Amino acid sequence: MDAATVMERCSVLGGVSEEPGILVRPYGSSSMHEVNGIVSGWMRDAGMSVRTDAIGNLIGRYEGTGNGTFVLGSHLDTVRDAGKYDGPLGVLAALACIERLRDRGERLPFAVEVVAFADEEGLRFGTTYLGSSHYAGALEKRLLELQDRDGVTLAEAVRAFGGDPESLSGTRSAPEDIVGYCEVHIEQGPVLEERNFPVGFVSAITGLSRLRASFSGRAGHAGTVPMEGRKDALCAAAEFVLEAEAAAKSEPGSVATVGEMSVRPGARNVIPGQVEISVDVRHGDDAIRERLRDHLESKAAKISTSRGCEHRWEADQESVAVSTDPELCALLARAIEDASMEALRLPSGAGHDAAQMAEVCPVAMLFVRCKEGISHNPGESVEEEDVAVTIDVMGRFLGRVAEGRGR
Ligand code: GLV
Ligand code: MN
Ligand code: MN
Repeated sequence: MDAATVMERCSVLGGVSEEPGILVRPYGSSSMHEVNGIVSGWMRDAGMSVRTDAIGNLIGRYEGTGNGTFVLGSHLDTVRDAGKYDGPLGVLAALACIERLRDRGERLPFAVEVVAFADEEGLRFGTTYLGSSHYAGALEKRLLELQDRDGVTLAEAVRAFGGDPESLSGTRSAPEDIVGYCEVHIEQGPVLEERNFPVGFVSAITGLSRLRASFSGRAGHAGTVPMEGRKDALCAAAEFVLEAEAAAKSEPGSVATVGEMSVRPGARNVIPGQVEISVDVRHGDDAIRERLRDHLESKAAKISTSRGCEHRWEADQESVAVSTDPELCALLARAIEDASMEALRLPSGAGHDAAQMAEVCPVAMLFVRCKEGISHNPGESVEEEDVAVTIDVMGRFLGRVAEGRGR
């Protein structure tokens, strides 16, 4: 019953978008405002008090009988042309756990906060985890100057979203007595499906580098400038993209992706004079990621020089790999076994709000099987039965945490 509700709610939120026909819900958008309104109604109905913090994270709180706050959550922002489960499933599965407690009239020995983080994907400002970094008190002040494509700064966007940019850095909206965080998320990979497990627990979250490279050449007439001697910025960028692919392939466990490209001036009969690309580099081992990142920077320089172009290389974000907490993981594994399943442990190649939450408390994550591992794609799909298992396991997990705190 509650799994069906979670599925239905994922579909409701999946229909709230900035653009018709695709799901895209960036930080601070009106669609984001709308989903916060919908979810806060569900939180109140679940018996929670609701607040919104200075960046726009939506926080529902279910009081307990003693001290301490355990946090559950995930994010409600999306990538462009997203699926409906990346983020919202974690928020709504957490809410379903609270609804079960309410239905049983049960209070845990600690409060539970369910947080719907306002920005995890970084679609609008290029850096991930803005919501959870504020909640955890780790938001860097310099980020307030980041600009979106229209030149709107993060500080301005926060204000327009009803938040308070002045109070963002150096403060946290998480309570002082936080004891742990657990996030439910679709796996976004093929392991659970291949091994026929509905859920598994996460050993570590990958580190990532988000960079911007720009190549400047010389714009010119596509019909009259001979091929020899051109300074085509797009050819330089294209060579770099293939170099990034080859370099990541030759470093086992690493991935490198160019997902955004802007070409200027952008006309069919003009040689591209200026190209800017995004570069996303990941590896579970920070030293290997840093080595690959530095290798790509030197490749960008070499390719530019060999083509008579100039280049700039800017780091938007560096996030280190984060291990989940052994004690919380043991409780999560026990909860999975209590539900008569083997507890499979697997790493995460995706970034998650849990990586920021690890700054302030022990963290754990429960992954849910998704069809063919497809994610960041409207084809994301999960089964209702797996969501039922997830809610059951999370309920058992909270019970085990409660036992450990002397219930
Ligand atoms: C978030 O989904 C990321 O891993 O980039
Ligand atoms: Mn995502
Ligand atoms: Mn996510």
